[in-house]
Amino acid sequence: MLIKADYLTLGIESSCDETAVAIFSEREGLIAHQLHSQIKTHFDYGGVVPELASRDHIKYGLPLLKRSLDEANLVVSDIDGIAYTKGPGLAGALLSGSALAKSLAFGLGIPSLGVHHLEGHLLSPFLEYQKPSFPFLSLLVSGGHTILLVANGLGDYQLLGQSLDDAVGEAFDKVAKLIGLGYPGGAELAKLALDGRAGLFNFPRPMLNKDNLDFSFSGLKTFVRNVFLDLKNPNRQDLADIAYEFEQAVGDVLTSKTEKALVQNNLQQLVVSGGVSANKTLRAKIDKMGAQLGVQTFYPRFEFCTDNAAMIALVGHLYLQQGKKDASDDIIVNPSWEL
Ligand code: KG4
Ligand code: ZN
Repeated sequence: MLIKADYLTLGIESSCDETAVAIFSEREGLIAHQLHSQIKTHFDYGGVVPELASRDHIKYGLPLLKRSLDEANLVVSDIDGIAYTKGPGLAGALLSGSALAKSLAFGLGIPSLGVHHLEGHLLSPFLEYQKPSFPFLSLLVSGGHTILLVANGLGDYQLLGQSLDDAVGEAFDKVAKLIGLGYPGGAELAKLALDGRAGLFNFPRPMLNKDNLDFSFSGLKTFVRNVFLDLKNPNRQDLADIAYEFEQAVGDVLTSKTEKALVQNNLQQLVVSGGVSANKTLRAKIDKMGAQLGVQTFYPRFEFCTDNAAMIALVGHLYLQQGKKDASDDIIVNPSWEL
């Protein structure tokens, strides 16, 4: 049973195709998280339709809020602060969530704070029992970003490298689409790769020999496309072999650059997060490398690799506790916000 000395932060996520609400308690950590996935809404279109995403966020925001409050046995007036995803993401989708957050905060007379979606992913392992501590290296791998950075403290992030073209999740999704898998493709491709065989294809490992910590996945994607088009009547085994080799190539590149960054910056802790951190082949490669270097590796639990409100509630909570809050009641989003 909560007593009121607690500080309760409501989190709302609506940057893309998941509508989510969560509650983070100062005393007890995460006490509620609810999510509505829009996969069914967008499936027939083969990707996210922004207008449909916004409408779903509006439709599911309040029911998810109610379910979160019920889950934590609270009423809305118990909430002390509200965090919402301010960007980056789809403009209309962000506006749906921020409008809900700002109206609630205004009505309740409590502070609100727009949170950076990527900072949510970056700090999501802090929702787990075993937490990293600053400083650590972060490999952030999502549908929109591939970033290596050093996290020195809350809000103190030093960019080391990033993708010069496609994000790694985007490359997964595009290759998945190419070989006829549905949306969202990353997890489907990973499933198919389980039946793939080693040594049947030889895909490039882009940027591995470059001295920097940047990535590039569009050349690999084109290479896979050409291999696929050269196959006359590919059967399921061919597609599984392609999926396998693609996953290996991506995993090798991400792991090798991460290793370089750990050594160069002499860091003993590594956080891997974002949607692609759910990939088990990547995790196996990273874990092996981490063990060889004596580096401790942290991931979010699988359900918090992809978009969720728990990470937004957590990050909002950390900043609200420091007294940070939105300067005005205006509903402002930032679809291309840089971390
Ligand atoms: O972090 P996220 O939910 O959304 C963004 O902020 O972008 O990441 C979504 C991305 C998608 O590209 C999806 O295909 C990919 O994460 N993804 C995966 C897996 N699960 C999700 N990629 C590879 N393997 C997976 N198991
Ligand atoms: Zn995300």
